[in-house]
Amino acid sequence: MTAAERALEFVAQGDRIGLGTGHAAAAFAVALAARVREGLDVRAVPTSQATADHALALGIPLTRLDDVETLDATIDGADEVDPQLDLIKGYGGALLREMVVASISRRLVILVGREKLVPSLGTRGTLPVEVVPFALPVCRRRLADLDIGSSLRMAGDRPFVTDNGNYLLHCGVAPMTRPHDVRDAIRSIPGVVDVGLFLGLADIVLVEDGDRVDTLHRAPGTRCAPLTLASRQVKP
Ligand code: A5P
Repeated sequence: MTAAERALEFVAQGDRIGLGTGHAAAAFAVALAARVREGLDVRAVPTSQATADHALALGIPLTRLDDVETLDATIDGADEVDPQLDLIKGYGGALLREMVVASISRRLVILVGREKLVPSLGTRGTLPVEVVPFALPVCRRRLADLDIGSSLRMAGDRPFVTDNGNYLLHCGVAPMTRPHDVRDAIRSIPGVVDVGLFLGLADIVLVEDGDRVDTLHRAPGTRCAPLTLASRQVKP
C-alpha cells in the first residue's frame, strides 16, 4: 500500500477536503479519483491552479472557500517534517493557499518519503517566503537584517509568480532551534504574505518507505488553537 492509498482512510462519505500541491498530493488525488468513480461523495478545495486542473481532469468535484467554513481533512505533502510534526512547506510554490486551507482543516494529513524527516526544521537549508512584488527589496533587506540571505525564485528569465500574483523568496536557513521565533520575525516584515513554516498544524504524517507506510501522530494538546480576540476589543 502507498501513503496516498493509506490517506484514503481519512476521507469519509460527504466530506469536504483540502487538496494539497506537489507530487504526494497529486498521487493522493489519483487514489481519491478512483474512489469518486466508485461513488464516494467528496468535494475538494484545491491549493493551487495546478491541483485544480489535475483534480478536474481526474473528475474530482471541486468547491470554494465561499461555500465551506471548515474542511474535514486536508491531504498534502511537505518538504521537511520534524519530530513534533512541524513542517516546512512551499518548495512547490503554493505555501499561501496551503496555509489557508490547513488553517480551516479539522485534520491535516501529510504524505512524505522518509527522506523528508529531519531532526530540526531548516536542515535542508531552504525556507520559502511569499512576498508582495512591490515590497520585494524591502523584504530582502529586512531578511538580511535578520541574517537571512534570500534568492528570488525564477521561472526562466523572469521571477516565478505564485497563483496569488506574488513572488517567492527562497531563504537560506540553518537548522532552527526556535522555529516559532523565526516564523514570527519573518511574518512581521511588511510585504511578507506568509512563510512556509507550518507549526502546530499537522495531525498525522504518513511516511512511505518502500512498501511500508508508517503513521506518525501529533502529541495530544500540541495542535495550535485558532486565534481569538475578546469581543469587546473588536467592533463589528
Ligand atoms: C507546495 O507548495 C509544497 O508545499 C509541497 O506540498 C511540498 O513541496 C511537497 O511537495 P512534493 O510532494 O512534490 O515533494
